[in-house]
Amino acid sequence: MSYPFSISARDMEEHLVQEDKTPVLRFITCGSVDDGKSTLIGRLLCDADLVFEDQLADLRRIGIRGGNGEEIDFSLLLDGLEAEREQGITIDVAYRYFSTSKRKFIVADTPGHHEYTRNMVTGASTADLAIILVDSRQGILQQTRRHSYLASLLGIRHVVLAVNKIDLVDFSEPVFDAIVAEYVSFSAKLGFASITAIPMSARFGDNVVLKSGQLPWYQGPALLEYLETVELDPADKQRASRFPVQLVMRPNPDFRGYAGRIASGKIAVGDPVVVSKSGRRSSVRAIIAPDGNQISAAEGEPVTLVLADELDVSRGDMLVDPASRPFVADQFQAHLIWFDTNPMLPGRSYLLRTETDSVGATVTALKHQLNVDSFVREPAKSLQMNEVGVCNIMTQRPIVFDAYEENRSTGNFIIVDRVSSATVGAGMIDFPLRRADNVHWQALDVDKAARTALKNQKSAVLWFTGLSGSGKSTIANALEALLHTCGKHTYLLDGDNIRHGLNRDLGFTAADRVENIRRVAEVARLMADAGLIVICSFISPFREERRMARELLEEGEFIEIFVDTPLEECARRDPKGLYKKAFAGNIANFTGVSSPYEAPEDPELHLKTVGQEPATLALQIEEFLRRGMEEKQRLA
Ligand code: ADX
Repeated sequence: MSYPFSISARDMEEHLVQEDKTPVLRFITCGSVDDGKSTLIGRLLCDADLVFEDQLADLRRIGIRGGNGEEIDFSLLLDGLEAEREQGITIDVAYRYFSTSKRKFIVADTPGHHEYTRNMVTGASTADLAIILVDSRQGILQQTRRHSYLASLLGIRHVVLAVNKIDLVDFSEPVFDAIVAEYVSFSAKLGFASITAIPMSARFGDNVVLKSGQLPWYQGPALLEYLETVELDPADKQRASRFPVQLVMRPNPDFRGYAGRIASGKIAVGDPVVVSKSGRRSSVRAIIAPDGNQISAAEGEPVTLVLADELDVSRGDMLVDPASRPFVADQFQAHLIWFDTNPMLPGRSYLLRTETDSVGATVTALKHQLNVDSFVREPAKSLQMNEVGVCNIMTQRPIVFDAYEENRSTGNFIIVDRVSSATVGAGMIDFPLRRADNVHWQALDVDKAARTALKNQKSAVLWFTGLSGSGKSTIANALEALLHTCGKHTYLLDGDNIRHGLNRDLGFTAADRVENIRRVAEVARLMADAGLIVICSFISPFREERRMARELLEEGEFIEIFVDTPLEECARRDPKGLYKKAFAGNIANFTGVSSPYEAPEDPELHLKTVGQEPATLALQIEEFLRRGMEEKQRLA
């Protein structure tokens, strides 16, 4: 795994860069299912003679779809890819490559009705231009607005508005004009550098490769001509050099090289470089490419760099131009696009991956959500699938990055779910946050060991989890009384009580529960550091947050106690009358009724409460603790 958004676009580019220096245009096609995306690309390739002849013959043979015997169904060209994809051969996005005498093209084919956003993001992150398809009969749809918005967010500067199926509205100029006027007006806020509208019929080939005789009122170019001539942002605009290190190569003690791909700019032998994290300087002694040594290398090329000095550089670090350094920070603001059916919850821990780095990360604040249809900012507590938000993110250690606006490849990241390893979101970094810059950890003379020694105990966090009414508070209370009698220093943090003070601003949505547990876990950690035996009694319904609490503590310090009482029994006991209300539909998000409970998979203690006295269960826990303490003393 390397380049977060798309590795194969990069591979393709590398291939092209090496072949010759003809300019490359990367584009993406966006449209709803029936807008004719595949037909358009098929037609483009075919009419420009860009398809191999045998492929064409195949199409003539099989391409009889919908009863129109003579016509070739161009979408079949791409459907072949669809089949590959189903077999899991290619990744989400297929890159097609073709060239004319003027230009080379890479088109990202982003399939799929479901997960469309994910595929589009992957395809768009390297594209220069987006072809937004509109069906002339339907005009601008919600989808059109969404795709345009995402394209703009991902840094695409040029748009072709392909007003397709114009034959079905009798090649009408007023219909075309009305669609263009509406598009231009709503997209004004999106800041595209150019919008070029072309009336066309992909099915019959009008204005795709050849200018159409049916549209005398249209003076502009056909699509291919436009793609061949559109002026892109000057490619040679000198960008700062960025070399994210993918691998440190040390085959023998005499050789140390750094393998990676030049993310931007050029690097030549003799150039000064700085290691972004440590700030150490050196210069490039050699550039080793797949075909041998080179004196310089350009953006997109995979190379191994050898430096003049032995420096400490590891994967995830970046070798850069000393005159223009990237940011190194552990907090930043970013735009985040969410792909997953499980919502993004601030406070939850995810993995964040940049081109070469991978680090634990949390969204510390969701500032607002951006309505993808109206482009308006809206308050939000979480991000649902396909939603976009602006948030502050904190990583477990500093990472190296640029603002996405400055550099798309070093300014993007993906978010990966820790458990399923699925890519659940993608982000574009806006800027670093400096708030932690002047705050430093203070070393204190009296530490945890000193505090626990004085109390003659081992600090611990006993984490009770279970449904409401399962008996957590009752057992926790009995346990604290027991430990207190034994001379132990304890403190009990109880859900209902904490929600009267520290967490009185939180409710019971998934987002609020994550924050509830995050704060409680931090408090428990401080109390454990104070040398106490901390008893926490919270429903804490999500595995992910219980794992987070565990990770905040030292090995063996966190003891998960599953208070296992069947829902029916909790509802029968109903100590606070809440189940009655919940079943009547009067409490939203009630755990076990209208909100999930994820039972522990491997708790330290699993207490089945039915038929057991709370005092007996408390004794069991006390015994577990005592055994742990004796074991520790024995080992010491
Ligand atoms: S948690 O899910 O965020 O861990 P916590 O343990 O703090 O919950 O609080 C749970 C207590 O709040 C329950 O024991 C119950 O008394 C009360 N409560 C009120 N509304 C709800 C609800 N929707 N779901 C669960 N508990 C609720």
